Amino acid sequence: MSKASSFKHLLSPGRIGPMELRNRIVLAPMGTGLGGHDGHITERHKRFYEERARGGAGLILTEVTAVDWPRGGSEVHQLGLSDDAFIPDLRDLTQRVHAHGAKIAVQLQHAGKVGTMDLAAGRPLLVPSMITERGSFGELTAEEFGAILKNYKTDPSNMYTVIDETEILRLVDCFAAAAERAKRAGFDGIEVHAAHGYLIDEFLSRHVNRRTDRWGGPLENRARFLCEILRETRRRVGPDMALWCRLNGEEMNTENGITREDAIETARMAVAAGADAIHITRYGPPVEIVSAMIVPEPGELLPYAEAIRKATKAPVIAVGRILPELGEQAIADGRTDFVAMGRQLLADPELPNKLERGEREDVCPCITCYVCVGQAFVQEPFKCAVNAACGREDEFPIVPALTPRRVLIVGSGPAGMEAARVAALRGHKVTLCEKSDRLGGTLWFASLVHDANGDLLEYLGNQVRKLPIDLRLGQEVTPEFVRQLQPDVILVAVGARRERLPIPGADRSNVLSGDDLRNLMTGADKKTAVEKLTLAQRAMLKMGSLLGVSDRVNLTRELSKHWMPLGTRVVVIGGGLVGVELGEFLVERGRQVSIIHDEPVMGAEMAIPRRWQALATLRQHGVTLVTGATVDAITDAGVVYTKDGQQQTAPADSVILAAGAQENRGLADSLAGLGIELHLLGDCKGVGYIEGAIMDGARIARSI
Ligand SMILES: Cc1cc2nc3c(=O)[nH]c(=O)nc-3n(C[C@H](O)[C@H](O)[C@H](O)COP(=O)(O)O)c2cc1C
Repeated sequence: MSKASSFKHLLSPGRIGPMELRNRIVLAPMGTGLGGHDGHITERHKRFYEERARGGAGLILTEVTAVDWPRGGSEVHQLGLSDDAFIPDLRDLTQRVHAHGAKIAVQLQHAGKVGTMDLAAGRPLLVPSMITERGSFGELTAEEFGAILKNYKTDPSNMYTVIDETEILRLVDCFAAAAERAKRAGFDGIEVHAAHGYLIDEFLSRHVNRRTDRWGGPLENRARFLCEILRETRRRVGPDMALWCRLNGEEMNTENGITREDAIETARMAVAAGADAIHITRYGPPVEIVSAMIVPEPGELLPYAEAIRKATKAPVIAVGRILPELGEQAIADGRTDFVAMGRQLLADPELPNKLERGEREDVCPCITCYVCVGQAFVQEPFKCAVNAACGREDEFPIVPALTPRRVLIVGSGPAGMEAARVAALRGHKVTLCEKSDRLGGTLWFASLVHDANGDLLEYLGNQVRKLPIDLRLGQEVTPEFVRQLQPDVILVAVGARRERLPIPGADRSNVLSGDDLRNLMTGADKKTAVEKLTLAQRAMLKMGSLLGVSDRVNLTRELSKHWMPLGTRVVVIGGGLVGVELGEFLVERGRQVSIIHDEPVMGAEMAIPRRWQALATLRQHGVTLVTGATVDAITDAGVVYTKDGQQQTAPADSVILAAGAQENRGLADSLAGLGIELHLLGDCKGVGYIEGAIMDGARIARSI
């Protein structure tokens, strides 16, 4: 049995209308922000899509493309297809994608009430009926607010224009004309974007559409705009071009929003109007973008695809963190026909080819950190925390080194492991030294707290073990060691330094630093265990370590659901990324948590949508979030802090210090006198978390 046969359904050919696809893997449409301001596709875009085609995806779906550009675009860098002038560049794109055996479809859109391009140009937003409520934001820093608002010129008292029948018909024509241009540019298919709160979706939703004419009221009327677009497009592009639409399976947490039944009925009407397939996503209020649409849990949206497939008998494309195993099973079980992958193909464009070659464990995983989509909020080009090359394909090739060098890497966190991987692939002779007896550095602990990080740890660990890398666990690096090894280059990636905060009471036995907690959970630090744990707790810990539990992230994570060296009421001091993720971890383990933070916004280092999701989850679990507070002392009663001039106490059985990570140049300084080329990477250079660490590892290992 070939290894690829474990993904035989996912890798088998499929068909959407007249379009034959080599497999069932679709690159989900993703706004890249890689464009300029002229609506034209750029070389960076082309390289991004080309790389996903080369990686083996069956179908490439482009990002949102404005049919009425420059009007109706949701991003300031958006692509346009409103004029023949856009065709030549797009033809180049389709040819480059076809050269790798993939098919390509364009996603056509009008953004309606979220038309950022209109706001930037000072135009009112087009809507089906007047919008009376203001959308609400989650927590934003002042800089983020500035970045969001800097482009907006529309007069807030004249934000919206309700479109009349003439304008509706003009827009139907815009969609169909753009589709015709797409055909001339060599696209194989058209996806009409009828989801995610854009104009067509606004017509479908009773929440937004309160019209009383033939475009509003009953579903048949609300779906008229979509169906007219599909019918006119089909008429203009003919039967030999694939055509479908993207629909919300549901509009979550919205009064009068689209129901599951509405979605099924709309899908039926769309198929009758000429759609060859339906692509099913989900939508909700903008602050809930993560839980509604760019979901963290695998397969959450599959039931919608399954229901629509059953009702329409048309092929469906499912989406929503569908990992290969789940996609394979869902197709085998008849729940979906195709699987769109977004973030996972940002993290690793070669996923389909790797599955084909039986190299599943070599697929670099998405860690659901939302750095990719967070960029769109501040109108910056997207990026991927685990794949430095995403959107910068030409900047990050792996080119064999002209002269292989002896490279010593100190520290096996994400920066060290990524650097080791890339340097070894380039042919350098790599020695990777890790002081502790396990790989991962802070990533090990981050994996306990956020399990997708564990996939990254596993992936990087696999690469380090597979490649010709001299891995030395339990190896402290000293100037003496370096003199003996005689490397040509040293890469120091030893992680941040965490100082104990100068708070009265911080030395109490119920106060743990992040390092203490990590060491206790992993059984790495016997001294702290004696100081901080009761006899019974130490016995538990000993048992865990005898069973080898603490060596394995997954087991430790499971064990921590039953036992942790912490009391019931836990106060976390420091509400940055680490404190917020720790809060999520603790509430999942039944603790009553308070987080006290000195800044006005918690989780500021987190990507905006991930921050909103994490803080909403914490609030749902009753976590007390205190911002803008100064901690005065830790006492018998708990953590004493001052906010708005008032002193208060957060009761605590245990206190965790999750602040104070700083650059850590000590080792680098001690090695600097050896006269060997030396670089600092990752958090020891300046705290940049996983994204910064991977970027440093990727960049520096390519430069040596
Ligand atoms: C960076 C980013 C940009 C996105 N832009 C679009 C878009 O232009 N059009 C669209 O329909 N969906 C967009 N989405 C949603 C994705 O198509 C997809 O539905 C979502 O990411 C869930 O799939 P995944 O879990 O495989 O990432 C975007 C998602 C991300 C992460």
